[in-house]
Amino acid sequence: MHVLWCVTGAGHLLQESADFMRKNMRGNKIAVAFSGAGCEVAEMYGLLDQIERDFKDVFMEDEQGSSSPLVGRLAKKEYDLVIVSPCTANTVAKIVTGVADSLVSNIAAQAVKSGTPLHVVPTDYKKTQETMLPLVIDPMLCRNCETCPPLMNCPKKAIYRDDRVRANMLKCNACKKCVEECTYSAISFGKKVRIHIRDIDIENTKRLGTMEGIQVYRKPDEIKI
Ligand SMILES: Cc1cc2nc3c(=O)[nH]c(=O)nc-3n(C[C@H](O)[C@H](O)[C@H](O)COP(=O)(O)O)c2cc1C
Repeated sequence: MHVLWCVTGAGHLLQESADFMRKNMRGNKIAVAFSGAGCEVAEMYGLLDQIERDFKDVFMEDEQGSSSPLVGRLAKKEYDLVIVSPCTANTVAKIVTGVADSLVSNIAAQAVKSGTPLHVVPTDYKKTQETMLPLVIDPMLCRNCETCPPLMNCPKKAIYRDDRVRANMLKCNACKKCVEECTYSAISFGKKVRIHIRDIDIENTKRLGTMEGIQVYRKPDEIKI
């Protein structure tokens, strides 16, 4: 099966999506399309390099202009299936309101128009959710040391100081060197937190499940390829 797999800017279910893609790469041809935020967030969780290594066809939103010419391939029936996993609340909102102004919302619109099945795994479907954070500097544990080893040794120069030591997440690639180097264990990666989901996002996810040509799943491994 030729699958177009879209990754949006969600940390929730990202690792599960990457694992499932990998598990299904044998016997299927998988092309991956990243939204702009999808590319950034995958890098923050240290998954971008791995996905780019494993999959030959990778499309980035910033290379797709304003009109997303990639969607022409759907009109030509080049893909048997489109999967959006994980799908942010933002992209779900666009799909349910018929907006097609980003790479993934365009792909979703064109999938339905071309009769290509569209499977979506939204991140937001229940009131509270446990999710995993990328790199976090805990201000309660950070001593703002004059000589800060994580700041001095970060290979990406992602750690900096203003009023305190902070991380520029757009530079971080989750190498986790800083986690090891902080004397006071103030830096963590993969911390679990419970987050509150807005009613509007839960409503949008419900509405998505009633739309023509779209199947909604709770987890990527519920999808049958
Ligand atoms: C580390 C990180 C994790 C995020 N995780 C989620 C998430 O799980 N679900 C979600 O809806 N948005 C999440 N976001 C916010 C989206 O990236 C943001 O709304 C973005 O504009 C979505 O764009 P896209 O839908 O085009 O990918 C996260 C942002 C960051 C920086």
